[in-house]
Amino acid sequence: MGEYLPEKILTNADLEKMVDTSDEWITTRTGIKERHLAAKGQAASDLAFKAAEQALKNAKLNPEDLDLIVVATITGDMPFPSVASILQNKLGAKRAASFDISAACAGFVYALSVAQQFIVSSTYKNALVIGVEVLSSVTDWQDRNTCVLFGDGAGAVVLSEVKNGRGIISTYLGCDGSKTGILNMPAGGSSNPATAETVSSRQHYIKMQGNELFKIAVNTMTKAAEVVLEQAGMTFADVDLIIPHQANARIIMAVAKKLGIPENRVYLNIERCGNMSSASTVTALCEAVQEGKVKKGDIILLDAFGAGLVWGACVIEW
Ligand code: ACO
Repeated sequence: MGEYLPEKILTNADLEKMVDTSDEWITTRTGIKERHLAAKGQAASDLAFKAAEQALKNAKLNPEDLDLIVVATITGDMPFPSVASILQNKLGAKRAASFDISAACAGFVYALSVAQQFIVSSTYKNALVIGVEVLSSVTDWQDRNTCVLFGDGAGAVVLSEVKNGRGIISTYLGCDGSKTGILNMPAGGSSNPATAETVSSRQHYIKMQGNELFKIAVNTMTKAAEVVLEQAGMTFADVDLIIPHQANARIIMAVAKKLGIPENRVYLNIERCGNMSSASTVTALCEAVQEGKVKKGDIILLDAFGAGLVWGACVIEW
């Protein structure tokens, strides 16, 4: 695994100078204290490259060993080509088929599940799976409802074959496409291409009905965890650590409470990173392992939810 968080840190105190907010509001409502922001000119592929380099080093593989690169992102370098294509060239991973996946905050779990199919079917030997976002590029820094929430970062994993009974035990993906309107970026796509008017009316930024999403997020993440554990033939008592998408500490703790999982078995990096959409679950996994919170044989539960609306959960035996 590998992780990259940009150097620049934006604190709640900095945000107090930008919009009508307070450290107290942000901390109590979200659990966020600070977030990393990409430097000007630093694109998603630059962040992904640093995380990928570290993951390859840790896996003791060369870029030429990669058969597949799957990048989960909603903030690619440009609408096309994919971040995966740009990254393939930066890494020199000449043999790797490469593509992006757009599943917002569930992006990493979606990407992991897709790459897993290629490994399980023996189509490919080594896959690089990345979650990366430069959400600061689509954040409206005048909108206090959203700008306090997001951050930039990248996480990478190398996926290869392991012996039966270990690794990814079960995955569950879902979607409710009837609620695309409550979290989206309205302009810049084919339905509403960029014009002077879309720019002046600030349509190229994240629009979110946070309050409505909150309730759906809690219920959906709870259900996804139940389904994926049942598929794995396990119960919540078997879970050593839940590594959820980091949208809001209150959402995460409400899910843990509903599932009966104690707080000390929930991993959080939201305080330092904010919500990094596709990059949140994978960087949290990476940090939990680095901090020694995941041991061989542990049962890990990934649980994510985001714009789409989409959700994904995954049980891993480490
Ligand atoms: N500082 C101060 N006050 C604020 C701020 C702020 N930054 N933002 C909103 N407020 C105010 C609102 O204006 C409102 O004031 P009012 O009562 O006078 O109208 C009040 O605070 C309460 O607003 P709510 O929206 O009800 O606050 P809530 O407790 O729901 O917290 C939040 C908002 C943090 C956005 C929460 O709803 C949330 O986390 N929602 C879920 C987000 C999520 O899961 N998204 C999906 C993943 S993201 C992705 O896919 C990219």
